[in-house]
Amino acid sequence: MKPTRYSIIKNTKVARNSRIYDQVNLYGCKIGKNTKVDAFVYIEEKVTIGDNCKIRPFVFIPTGVVIEDNVFIGPNVTFTNDKHPRSHGDWTLLNTRVRKFASIGAGSTINPGVEIGENALVGSGSVVTKNIPANAIVVGVPARVVGYRDPPAEMDDTQVQKRSGRRR
Ligand SMILES: CC(C)(COP(=O)(O)OP(=O)(O)OC[C@H]1O[C@@H](n2cnc3c(N)ncnc32)[C@H](O)[C@@H]1OP(=O)(O)O)[C@@H](O)C(=O)NCCC(=O)NCCS
Repeated sequence: MKPTRYSIIKNTKVARNSRIYDQVNLYGCKIGKNTKVDAFVYIEEKVTIGDNCKIRPFVFIPTGVVIEDNVFIGPNVTFTNDKHPRSHGDWTLLNTRVRKFASIGAGSTINPGVEIGENALVGSGSVVTKNIPANAIVVGVPARVVGYRDPPAEMDDTQVQKRSGRRR
């Protein structure tokens, strides 16, 4: 990992071959190998992100979120962890999980406490309020299933690295 000028990166574990771009704020989280985290991404403590993921710019990932391997998170995606937020007092953390090979389209919001199924595709601008089944394509506010996509051919590390592009 290259030293960054304008980032805050504290107590974060980043596995080999991952690229963290500048102007990120990462603390207390864990990032797997071959994963790319673009600029202006904010990741809170206890979040885990798997291998071979791509996190595009301006993504917010709070405590309670687990992202498995080979997941794509589009630009401006917002995860949440408190269903009834207030500025002060107690609150209840709801956990969210994104299963492997899922893709989340640009500008989507993921309400807390949901599971996005393996290889599911969330269309751009969706608001996910419920669990999404494996392979489902969902769009809209609230997000509804509009179709299904084929499961991916399993890719080994080398293929994934080639496909995700070592440079941009
Ligand atoms: C959901 C998605 C996969 C559908 O793609 P597609 O299967 O090629 O479907 P089409 O573009 O032909 O659209 C089919 C219908 O769904 C609608 N639609 C497409 N995307 C939509 C979305 N995100 N939200 C709501 N409706 C959508 C279209 O308007 C069209 O409606 P119609 O049948 O009434 O004309 C795609 O539009 C999408 O949102 N992809 C994510 C893009 C993204 O965020 N990429 C991030 C990398 S930068």
